Amino acid sequence: MVDASALAAGKREAGYRAADMVADGMVVGLGTGSTVFYAMERLAARIREGLRITGIPTSYQAAIRARACGIPLATLNDYPVIDLAIDGADQVDPGFALIKGRGAAQTQEKCVAFAARSLVIVADLSKLTRQLDAVVPIEVLASAYVPLIRHLEAIGGVPVLREGIKKDGPVITDNGNMVIDCGFGPISDPAAFDIRLSSIPGVVTCGLFTTFSEKTTVIVGDSGGCQVLSRDGQFPL
Ligand code: 5RP
Repeated sequence: MVDASALAAGKREAGYRAADMVADGMVVGLGTGSTVFYAMERLAARIREGLRITGIPTSYQAAIRARACGIPLATLNDYPVIDLAIDGADQVDPGFALIKGRGAAQTQEKCVAFAARSLVIVADLSKLTRQLDAVVPIEVLASAYVPLIRHLEAIGGVPVLREGIKKDGPVITDNGNMVIDCGFGPISDPAAFDIRLSSIPGVVTCGLFTTFSEKTTVIVGDSGGCQVLSRDGQFPL
């Protein structure tokens, strides 16, 4: 049984540490989800002390929270190069391949990660895994969800169209698309599978992030503190 308050403490530790990596004048990618929220909370405190940054949000949620935190915002079109992006993840493997998209924000998150000089992933310990095996959120064109579900079944997946909570019917993303959550079991070659899923016509963005690992740092937190992981260092699992 996972202790919710220990998880929240781990997220806070990781988020605060990531926010402390931000330097004055930086353009900062702001990911979506509960762990990045803590990074924004800490950035808000640093801004009150004089830090000047420009945030590039990855979703409506990130933009709403950033505004509430007093973080000045701009768009990726205004700032096509980002100094440092802070984001969460649903799973992280030892090579820093990720599954993302629980919050249906993976398309803008992937664009921001691509534009970033460095990507800092903030996570609690429960996100670390030796092999990616969680469901992969796949943002898809609404006009093609039926053939996509059939195709994902044909390649061995178990696809489920994501339904809204407090909204009847499918989740519609910030970009106006639908989301299919697809289980595949353990993924033996995430990079090859990322390419395979991403190249299916009608797929907008799959939640596998496998091309950013060289510029990725992972900060993993628990109630006792946090560790900054590098790809060639120790993986605490
Ligand atoms: C949203 C994401 C999130 O970054 C991911 O789900 C982690 O969220 P949290 O920090 O709340 O656990 O990919 O699309």
